[in-house]
Amino acid sequence: MGSAVSRRRTFAIISHPDAGKTTLTEKLLLYGGAIHEAGSVKSRKAARAATSDWMELERKRGISITSSVLQFEHEGIRYNLLDTPGHQDFSEDTYRTLTAADCAIMLIDAAKGVEAQTRKLFQVCRMRGTPIVTFVNKLDRPSRDPFELMRELEEVLGIATVPRTWPIGSGDLFQGVYDIESQTVMRFALGKDGAAKRADVSVAGIEDPQLEALIGERARGELKDEIELLTGAGETFDRARFLAGEITPVFFGSALTNFGVEPFLHVFRDLAPPPAPRKSADGNVIDPEGEGFSGFVFKVQANMDPSHRDRIAFLRICSGSFEGGMRVFHRRLGKEIRLNRAESFFAQDRAAVVEGVAGDIVGLYDPGLFRIGDTLSSDPNLAFTEVPRFSPEHFGRLRLLDPLKRKQIQKGIEQLSEEGTVQLFTQSGREKDPICGVVGQLQFEVLMYRLEHEYGARVALDKLPYNTARWVVGAENAKALEARRLPLAVSDQDDHPVALFRDEWEVGRAARDNAEWTFLETAPLK
Ligand code: G4P
Repeated sequence: MGSAVSRRRTFAIISHPDAGKTTLTEKLLLYGGAIHEAGSVKSRKAARAATSDWMELERKRGISITSSVLQFEHEGIRYNLLDTPGHQDFSEDTYRTLTAADCAIMLIDAAKGVEAQTRKLFQVCRMRGTPIVTFVNKLDRPSRDPFELMRELEEVLGIATVPRTWPIGSGDLFQGVYDIESQTVMRFALGKDGAAKRADVSVAGIEDPQLEALIGERARGELKDEIELLTGAGETFDRARFLAGEITPVFFGSALTNFGVEPFLHVFRDLAPPPAPRKSADGNVIDPEGEGFSGFVFKVQANMDPSHRDRIAFLRICSGSFEGGMRVFHRRLGKEIRLNRAESFFAQDRAAVVEGVAGDIVGLYDPGLFRIGDTLSSDPNLAFTEVPRFSPEHFGRLRLLDPLKRKQIQKGIEQLSEEGTVQLFTQSGREKDPICGVVGQLQFEVLMYRLEHEYGARVALDKLPYNTARWVVGAENAKALEARRLPLAVSDQDDHPVALFRDEWEVGRAARDNAEWTFLETAPLK
């Protein structure tokens, strides 16, 4: 049966909006047995989309923690699915959540291939060597040639692909998938109720005379040719390379109609790694099965309800076991604290945590004690490497409309940057008008709204024409950058020199012209 830790799978789904993340999540819950009929996740999303005023909705929902982690059990495995907000909610949180995952499902729309947001999220996984399993979705629609899609993954993302299933046709001619390992065809039938229930499956081997009756002569001939091509030319699966994030197994299917989700979940169970040892900042390896408790905060979420000022800090457990009321050391504050009022997440219910081991996520009520990257541990000397800060993609200069409220604004901005809503930069000579950087545009609205409603301070935001930042290692300070005429030289919260650029071309030129400096996409860790 294995230990509790070996039965954990903590993962996230990375995709571009509309690739089908919500739909796949729902189907994983359906096949995982956590829900009995599809529809619940979707209706939540529909409810979300139905209102134009997201803040109003956040307020109604209170603390919206339920969508942050979904937990379900299937065949003795406990899955923790971390939500990586997309669409308008796309923010640095989306990136940081990936630091708490042990593996990722990369979801690709079969008609569109690799899209912008997938590419960004992929880069974060690549940085950390996160193993990635690929699911190519929407095969029930006219799709691009699967060989061409494989090539695109390899060329655009630079990851080698190993198909584990292969589609039989696409669009109206989509019939199911061929499982390469077991060498069987799984042909699916749509139930009367469409896709709400599990699909009926018929199975046949590729040489099986029944196969022709199942999928037709032409499809069988094509499939045979394609499989021959694949087995002749392709990469073979190597678990060590998969765990290092160098190759990705690829599955095909259609989440909406349930084609291919079950074989996927079945293999995912064995592919996805249990919690791996994590390195502490001083290079020690923390065994997830070890007794001492440790974890780090990867997300802090503010309560949008002004009558509840507390926040929720999300803690990823790295070793030991969690118990409500336990005492741990808070490394940054240098003191012992009691971990109270934890919650665990199961679909829409909030249930008190009964147990939590490495891989699990707990939500802690936060009266202001926690910041992203904080280590909590039974060992006062343990600190995990910080959670990195990623380059924002939108920048704006804040102008105070009410100079008498400067103090409140200062406090508000500091708090919001602690939560990771915005990153703050200053330009020398213009310290009074901070520059804010965000990953998703919506964060600007959150910032303005919260400054006004929580801190009573009205501000205006003048957008700046930059869309990426580089932390410059080797330069003494922002002044040194100014001297080299980089587009905009600023300092970050820790006084580190940062250059803002309009596009990648400008970054490339700056890097060439200043070869003695290194231009980092994430803030250097302290
Ligand atoms: P997201 O969370 O990644 O943004 O995507 P979501 O699941 O909401 O799916 C986006 C759209 O794509 C939805 O259609 C959804 O039904 C559809 N979709 C997801 N998976 C598949 C699939 O395998 N095949 C097909 N044909 N469509 C799929 P919508 O019209 O935007 O929403 P709805 O009206 O269906 O609710």
